[in-house]
Amino acid sequence: MGEWLVVTNLSKSYGVSRFLFSKKKRDIIKNISFSFKKDSVAILGESGSGKTTLIKMLSGIEKPSSGDIKLNVTQSPKKKNPISMIFQDYWSAINPRFTVYEALKETMNETDEKKMLDEMTNILKKVGLSADVLYKKATEMSGGQIQRICIARSLLSRTQVLIFDESFSSLDLIVVDQLLDLLMELRKEYKLKYVFVTHSLELATYFCEELLVLKDGEVEESLLVSNLMHSNSVYVKELIKAQI
Ligand SMILES: Nc1ncnc2c1ncn2[C@@H]1O[C@H](COP(=O)(O)OP(=O)(O)O)[C@@H](O)[C@H]1O
Ligand SMILES: [Mg+2]
Repeated sequence: MGEWLVVTNLSKSYGVSRFLFSKKKRDIIKNISFSFKKDSVAILGESGSGKTTLIKMLSGIEKPSSGDIKLNVTQSPKKKNPISMIFQDYWSAINPRFTVYEALKETMNETDEKKMLDEMTNILKKVGLSADVLYKKATEMSGGQIQRICIARSLLSRTQVLIFDESFSSLDLIVVDQLLDLLMELRKEYKLKYVFVTHSLELATYFCEELLVLKDGEVEESLLVSNLMHSNSVYVKELIKAQI
């Protein structure tokens, strides 16, 4: 199987203003190279290791300081950036003043009202929601429902890669199970690729086939889940130990 994402010598540094005239740079992602081959990948690593910074660059939200990100998926003409991020803090992902209808409409190119509504209703059904939610606001919905809306919105914008940034950590386990089932189905239908940033080894091994472990802005390890027991990462070993 080919590599669908190839990252070469990627770096990111942020300026830290100390005094008015001196701006010191802090390296967050330090010249890393890796590739993803499997359809579901987990990114692991301690808090502060640079996971969010990395995936923000992958999804085009942040510009790399240097380096190259090459995505080998069939680019959809309707979508400039085929990678979408589903945030941990999903309350901020949807404008709370917007109805679901307005939130979904934002990402669509369709101008014909009837066609747009049909497409929205259809996609909501795919993510297990009824059309009733269209006129609700984010504040009137549960965390699980909002996650589904975020997924629906990505599907409407013809995303091919979905990145979840600890998106499930605040959700009930039953809700997480349901979402994972949904993602499994959608993967087949839409040929999606998934990247999960997570602290849960259970999620990583249940759903993913490949792992990338970050440490202090560097790649500590990149391995297949089938080789998990041979991991050299102290962080992964700790997670395994905590699970047994
Ligand atoms: N916009 C920013 N400006 C300055 N420092 C940042 C910024 N975003 C993240 N950082 C720093 O980069 C480091 C890595 O952060 P992050 O990518 O969020 O790690 P993780 O997601 O693994 O917890 C942290 O030390 C954080 O304080
Ligand atoms: Mg993070």
